[in-house]
Amino acid sequence: MAEGSGTKKVVLFTGGTDGIGRETLNVLALERDLKLIITARSMVKGTKVAEELNSKFKSVNDQLDITVMNMDLGSFESIKQFVKEFKALNIPLDTLVCNAGVMPYTFEKTTDGHELTVGTNHYGTFLLTYSLLDKLNKSTFGGNIVIVASTTHYSPTKLDINNLATTEAKNFSIQDDYANSKLYNVMFAKELGKRLAEKGSNVKVNSIHPGFTITNLTKNWGYVVVAFIKLLWYFTGNNMSDMAEGLASLTLNKQNETGKYFQLKNITTPSQLSQNEDLCEQLWDKTCEIVGVPKDFTL
Ligand SMILES: NC(=O)c1ccc[n+]([C@@H]2O[C@H](COP(=O)([O-])OP(=O)(O)OC[C@H]3O[C@@H](n4cnc5c(N)ncnc54)[C@H](OP(=O)(O)O)[C@@H]3O)[C@@H](O)[C@H]2O)c1
Repeated sequence: MAEGSGTKKVVLFTGGTDGIGRETLNVLALERDLKLIITARSMVKGTKVAEELNSKFKSVNDQLDITVMNMDLGSFESIKQFVKEFKALNIPLDTLVCNAGVMPYTFEKTTDGHELTVGTNHYGTFLLTYSLLDKLNKSTFGGNIVIVASTTHYSPTKLDINNLATTEAKNFSIQDDYANSKLYNVMFAKELGKRLAEKGSNVKVNSIHPGFTITNLTKNWGYVVVAFIKLLWYFTGNNMSDMAEGLASLTLNKQNETGKYFQLKNITTPSQLSQNEDLCEQLWDKTCEIVGVPKDFTL
């Protein structure tokens, strides 16, 4: 049964406290008909962002409506607690933007013991999205899911389904774990879209490379590497406002697209590996095992 709130579209946005997500909220804050829910692992930082948005945009958008809720994507327990609290609000969910992500320089683990990059970017994103599918399916606007991936998803040439993430520090390579996590993001979006369509759901799912810029993502990488990344950005990077426009545009999804991979605002062909249907299915099954949910979901 459809869940209606009235006129406002409820947008749940992860990773809005910094970088590309923070910038995208500057665009979304101008929309009059949205209720924005920002998740934050630090409520202090999340509240500060909400206050800044209110003081900057309330005078031009008196309908601006922002709520901050606590969630750490690197902890299954925190995600489950968030989902419980969100569902207890008894409000609809129309759009979910999974933008939060990490790229740590060294080997670290989530609270559940998984390598931090894959653990946060894929397992956390997967569990959050999976747990909210029933809400999204009831959206009177038609649910919309945006998974923020990256062009780095083109790098992996194979996928080892039994070793989705590095397990020991000595084997860690940030390029590999990050690129793998972003490959899984694209594959997850594809497989989820297929499964939703098979169930007759109208929920739309797309993934996006938001563009390339310097953010906190690489803040602990050391002076020399950061200098190199800055140089790379100078020649190949994107403008932050174009990136924010791209992510905001897919968040609003006025074109009603589904099953696509975007680079900023442009629909693009994702990597061949990411479109391998058998692998997408295997990745789904394996991830369900890891995050501890049934392979088949109910809407
Ligand atoms: N920057 C690029 O060039 C680029 C290129 C391609 C794709 N991307 C993707 O774009 C997305 C945003 O990255 P960004 O560059 O904007 O990075 P960023 O500046 O580091 O921002 C990352 C956001 O994710 C949040 N986050 C990180 N770990 C979290 C956790 N465990 N639980 C909850 N939230 C968490 C951060 O929260 P805090 O504020 O608490 O740190 C922050 O809001 C990521 O998915 C990234 O992979 C970025």
